[in-house]
Amino acid sequence: MKAIAIIQDEHRAITAVIEGLRHVVEEVRAGRMAVDHALLGAMFHYIEAFPEKLHHPKEDDFLFARLRARAPDIAPVLDGLEHEHVVGRERFSELKAKWERYRADAAALEPFAEGVERYAHFHWRHMRREEDEVLPRAAKALTAEDWAAIDAAFASNDDPIVGVPASKAFRELFRRIVAIAPPPWGVGPEASQR
Ligand SMILES: [Fe+2]
Ligand SMILES: [Fe+2]
Repeated sequence: MKAIAIIQDEHRAITAVIEGLRHVVEEVRAGRMAVDHALLGAMFHYIEAFPEKLHHPKEDDFLFARLRARAPDIAPVLDGLEHEHVVGRERFSELKAKWERYRADAAALEPFAEGVERYAHFHWRHMRREEDEVLPRAAKALTAEDWAAIDAAFASNDDPIVGVPASKAFRELFRRIVAIAPPPWGVGPEASQR
C-alpha cells in the first residue's frame, strides 16, 4: 500500500503550493508585497501539470477503478469525486483566466483573489473527502494484487503522461517555488525587500 503514503504526500505538496498561492495573493492585497508574476506562474504551472494532469487522472484510472470493482456501495462517493476532477479542471482554467486579466490590469486583483480562495476551498474539501472516505475504505477492501497495480502507477518515476521523470521534476519545481516565495510560507526575500 505504498500508494496511500504517496497520495497523502502528493496531497501535502499540492496543498502547500495552493496555500503558498493564497499567502502571496494575501500579501499583495494587503500591500505588503509587490506582485511577482514569475512566482505566480511557477505556482500555476505546478498546479496545472501535477494535480490536474497527473494526480487526479491516476486516482480515477487506478485507485477509483479498482475500488469500484471491490466495493460497489462506494460508487456515489467516487462518482462525486470524479465529477470534481472534471469541475476542478474547469475551475482551474477560470482561475488562470482571472490571473491573465490581473496581469493585464492591476485593478483586476479582487476577482483573482476571490478565485484563489474559492479554488483553495474546493481543493481542500475534495482532498479531505478522498483521505477521510476513500483511502480508509481502499485499505480494507482492495487486494494485494490491486495494490501492486496501484502502487506501480503512483510510484512510477518516469511517467508516461508527461514523458519525463515526473516526481523528480515536480520536487525540483516545488523547491524552486519555495525558494522564491516570501516567508513565512517560503524562504525567498522578505516582502519588504521586494
Ligand atoms: Fe482527487
Ligand atoms: Fe487526490
